[in-house]
Amino acid sequence: MARPRLNSSDSHSEDLPKPKINKVLIQKASQIFSYLKPYRVRFGIGMLFLILSSLTMLTFPALLGAMIDAAQGKKTYPWLSDSLVFIGSLSLSILFFQSILSFFRIRIFVEIAEKTLANIRKDSYLKLITLPVDFFSNRRVGELNSRLSADLSQIQDTMTTTLAEIIRQSISLCFGVALLIFVSPKLALMNLCILPIMIVVALFFGRFIRKLSKQTQDQLADSNSIVQETLLGISNVKAFVNEYFEAQRYNHKLNTAVKLAVRGATFRGIFASFIIFCIFGAVITVIWYGATLVSAGEISVGDLTTYILYSMFVAGSMGSFPELYAGIQRALGASERVIEILNEKSEDIQVAEEDKVIGKRIQGKLTFEDVAFAYPTRSDVQTLKNISFTVDAGQKVAIVGPSGTGKSTIASLILQFYRPQQGIIYYDDEPAYSYSLTDIRNQVAIVPQDVLLFGGTIRENINYGKLEANAESVVEAAKRANAHEFIMSFPDGYDTIVGERGVKLSGGQRQRIAIARALLKDPAILILDEATSSLDSESERLVQEALEELMKGRTSIIIAHRLSTIKNADNILVIEDGKVVDSGNHIDLLTKGSGLYHYLYTLQSSQKLES
Ligand SMILES: Nc1ncnc2c1ncn2[C@@H]1O[C@H](COP(=O)(O)OP(=O)(O)OP(=O)(O)O)[C@@H](O)[C@H]1O
Ligand SMILES: [Mg+2]
Repeated sequence: MARPRLNSSDSHSEDLPKPKINKVLIQKASQIFSYLKPYRVRFGIGMLFLILSSLTMLTFPALLGAMIDAAQGKKTYPWLSDSLVFIGSLSLSILFFQSILSFFRIRIFVEIAEKTLANIRKDSYLKLITLPVDFFSNRRVGELNSRLSADLSQIQDTMTTTLAEIIRQSISLCFGVALLIFVSPKLALMNLCILPIMIVVALFFGRFIRKLSKQTQDQLADSNSIVQETLLGISNVKAFVNEYFEAQRYNHKLNTAVKLAVRGATFRGIFASFIIFCIFGAVITVIWYGATLVSAGEISVGDLTTYILYSMFVAGSMGSFPELYAGIQRALGASERVIEILNEKSEDIQVAEEDKVIGKRIQGKLTFEDVAFAYPTRSDVQTLKNISFTVDAGQKVAIVGPSGTGKSTIASLILQFYRPQQGIIYYDDEPAYSYSLTDIRNQVAIVPQDVLLFGGTIRENINYGKLEANAESVVEAAKRANAHEFIMSFPDGYDTIVGERGVKLSGGQRQRIAIARALLKDPAILILDEATSSLDSESERLVQEALEELMKGRTSIIIAHRLSTIKNADNILVIEDGKVVDSGNHIDLLTKGSGLYHYLYTLQSSQKLES
């Protein structure tokens, strides 16, 4: 459950976990830096600009102090003229120079980060789509996607700003401290005594308060999830007259959140007062002691000004380090996760354009020999056990059986989404491993159980079966799939946008588009995983006709729920519990008079009559 946030702009990176930085993590994450290699010269130039601009920044306190001394007719540095005009214009010139350096520095770093990130994005996308199917069954795709995009933006942030900031602040800190000591060792010594105490207390307090506010937010999120749950299931709440119960539940959570928030506010208040006291206390002490030194003639007013400005630099750098460190932690964690995906093993497929050319033709004979399979994510459940069957080229085979017995799994195996743990699948009497994955998938088409269309136009969706097909072939395929008519009834025809996942089309329309897509592909082996949800009889007839057209002249494996498809099959495999328990044609199986097939058949027939 997402935590509610007031500023949603950068919440994605704030939410990223912050792993402990150690050698292993750095080693793993440093692979990301190899993406910087092509830009190393430019990166070096950027660094140079960065260092120069940070160093020039450090000249201002000295120049401003000198200016104040000059106003009083004193000369701070023997090598610097005491003319106000000279020091003023010198400061402005350096400032101008510094601005130019900063511009180039930012410009260079942003360009490098954008280009590097684009390369990492391309690689991770290509990696993701070439990973085997079982990679995805372990993970939620939405999460994978948002995780990846949050991780990548964190890396980008780090490359554009965090790295540069760290270098800039380190320079400002080191040189700043050195210059403080140079300007007034006595003041510096006093300062260095109080600073560490402040830092330790601030860090400790800060962590404590963050923990408290996280607890508050979690409680709030909990209470919000009650709101969401009850509103979504409002009819349930009402049907059970549980409004009062839910209201109590919500009040309780909310009260806890408020209590925590108030407790947090107390500490926050103490913390804020403490910090303000410390900061201004330090300022007062420095100026007080500095003024004493000035009146004793030990330092000039200009020196005191210089000193104060430098100490502001140093304090600023120190204050920025915790956030920068957290940024680095997040970036390392993000890099590690991205690298993990990049290092996953891809499927052995060719993704280049020319590999659409089929290397080894398949005529269409398909044989399962003693195939056993368990999903890698559920290795304890044997989904398929000793499946054996043969389909001759051009034959129609129906697979029937109760839900969850492994019918769709057989389809996935034919497409080589997974490898069986035992047994061999033959295409044209040659074992699967003698073909390339690309060759098999280019010659097997599937009309899946739940058709999923892409968000584009109908034309694009049909074209997906064969990207190089021209517009006429698309229309031809749509006509044969009984889809042309309904497509033309839309005002935009083939350019109609189907909406995300094809939501703007009915189930039967989606199926016919999937059939057109398969027709365009013109495969040797066709798999039809019929939708379980029934269509009304008119769309059923249209879909059925389209299917008949599609099955003509090719090997068809039909995972059948419709009587009409089953009756016309050359062979029917009855699957139960991952095994073939019976086979034969419709008449054979029916005359046996008992068994699963008979049961399923009578069940379906009676449903047919009812509807
Ligand atoms: N990706 C997966 N990972 C793990 N188990 C799976 C996966 N897909 C399916 N299963 C399991 O494998 C078994 C067979 O599933 P399958 O989808 O092949 O059934 P089915 O025969 O097609 O059922 P239906 O008729 O309802 O479509 C089921 O128990 C299912 O829970
Ligand atoms: Mg299925």
